[in-house]
Amino acid sequence: MKTKRTHQCGELNKQHLEKEVGLCGWVDRWRDHGGVVFIDLRDRSGIVQVVFDPSTQPVPDANTLRQEFVIGVKGKVRARPEGMKNSNLPTGDIEIIVHELEILSRAQQLPFSLHDDSPSAGEVDEQLRLTYRYLELRKPGLQNNLRIRHEFIRAAREFYFENGFWEIETPILYKTTPEGARDYLVPSRVHPGMFYALPQSPQTLKQLCMISGMDRYVQIARCFRDEDLRADRQPEFTQVDVEMSFITEEDIYDLHEKLMSKVFERVLGKKLKTPFERIPYPKAMAMYGSDKPDLRNSLKLVDLTEQGKKSSFQVYQTALGQGSILKALCFEEKEALSRSELDALPKKVSPYGAKGITWIRIKSPGDWQSPQAKFFDENLKKEIESQLPFTQGAMVFLICAKSTVVNNALSALRLEYGDRFGYTNKEEDRFAWVTDFPLFEYNEDDKRFYAAHHPFTRPHPEDLDLFMNKEDHDSTARIRACAYDLVWNGFEIGGGSLRIYDSAVQARMFQKLGINEEEAQRKFGFFLRALQYGTPPHGGIALGVDRIAMLLAGCDAIRDVIAFPKTQKASCLMSEAPSPADPKQLEELFIRTVPVPQKS
Ligand code: AMO
Repeated sequence: MKTKRTHQCGELNKQHLEKEVGLCGWVDRWRDHGGVVFIDLRDRSGIVQVVFDPSTQPVPDANTLRQEFVIGVKGKVRARPEGMKNSNLPTGDIEIIVHELEILSRAQQLPFSLHDDSPSAGEVDEQLRLTYRYLELRKPGLQNNLRIRHEFIRAAREFYFENGFWEIETPILYKTTPEGARDYLVPSRVHPGMFYALPQSPQTLKQLCMISGMDRYVQIARCFRDEDLRADRQPEFTQVDVEMSFITEEDIYDLHEKLMSKVFERVLGKKLKTPFERIPYPKAMAMYGSDKPDLRNSLKLVDLTEQGKKSSFQVYQTALGQGSILKALCFEEKEALSRSELDALPKKVSPYGAKGITWIRIKSPGDWQSPQAKFFDENLKKEIESQLPFTQGAMVFLICAKSTVVNNALSALRLEYGDRFGYTNKEEDRFAWVTDFPLFEYNEDDKRFYAAHHPFTRPHPEDLDLFMNKEDHDSTARIRACAYDLVWNGFEIGGGSLRIYDSAVQARMFQKLGINEEEAQRKFGFFLRALQYGTPPHGGIALGVDRIAMLLAGCDAIRDVIAFPKTQKASCLMSEAPSPADPKQLEELFIRTVPVPQKS
């Protein structure tokens, strides 16, 4: 390569007039106006117009250039003639008149256009874009997302280093680290029949760092979880993983409010209001039906279980008698919902397990329109209205079911109708710590308790007696954890806890989770042993880098801030991973595959 690059394309402006410059980049667009060739030259920093004008300076091969050729040019910066300036482009006042061209590489016709204004732009399907991800990544929007992600990681690293944290790398070939998903397994060649598990997070490792006396640990850690994917979940993702010794929850809150303030200022140039709101888990579920409430939305749920019991609606009577609850979402019906829309509500809530939904239109106090209106007498109407935030032109959705079903369904409706009727202020950024999570979660399907966060989380000191000494279902369900999540605009961007630092408490935890002594020793014996040699009280948090970058960049899906993301089915279309292994490799690993059984 002969061309010496002196500047980046996007940095040139009027201050560089008359300067000799050397630029390198891709041909974004080209136009031949009667022999004068105009090129939009693109690199990571932006676009600048370069001109080949045979009447002043003939340049061989200028008219052979095509889209996405990579070139180097030497030329002089000059002002664009009046009327030819482009105020949409930061470099739009100037252009480069070229006297030397070097074609560094040619490009075939691309499988899709990189220009959002091209006629076919909307039709390019995701499969094709992911197959040629390296081409899609040339688009300025995605490049900007990756820059924002980089800025976030950089600000975070700086912040932790300034606060005395050491960056410590932990192994990827490891043992199960339960975070509620399936493990990705890696077979060992030298230990036939044995497997490593890729870490779902470096949880036990960072705790072991505390036992080792490292005091403050941070790692930009890769985590692997074989679980169902969604727009905010990938099978491998990145955490800013943090652990600290001799701390309380307050230390975590304070430090991470400072971190997010720094990130906001650095990446978005915005000031953040601290301290963040704190919402105990039971309150979050009661008011918003979610442990990650979007606080930009001002709608709140209302519990009407007691009022439901007074109605003559048999469906409520039966369900409420069996431990169901009745909750309402109420909003001003700023534009009347059509009958067909109201009829479609049951279909909308059925994916959450709700068997039905009641709607009530309160035109004015006492004046109710609803297929179920007859089940509520005048006194009961008054009592219900006294609980609602609006009674004039209000729409009320009521769901009666088990609390999980009610909360999941109504929180989804809260988001949908809050957005639609202007209850969500999208200009704001709202953060909250959700605190006091339960220690255990009961799973109805296999009738057992699971760790709500992970099995290393410390029980709330006030509930330690319940934890150590009681066996019944209700006591177990009541135990609170020293666990917290950080929520930003309805996304869980971080989660953590104070940890158990006593091996007897840890052993009890495994016992409560139904992990017998033998299994606990096999899976976590090394960890239980380590806890016996002087463990400092410690705790930590992990922030989801992908989710934070997504929100900083204003995107809807984390794949837009990941250079090489996987599809919903956890495959990489570009490299075609996963793919069959070479039979010789399998032989070395003593692995034989069996055909997938056909579903009958
Ligand atoms: P947790 O499982 O809550 O905690 O994860 C912490 C944060 O990581 C992000 N996250 C994900 N991001 C993208 N794709 C996924 N599949 C995914 N899963 C989780 C979320 C989440 O808040 N070891 C504990 C932390 C601790 O206790 O210190 C842990 O991993 O933003």
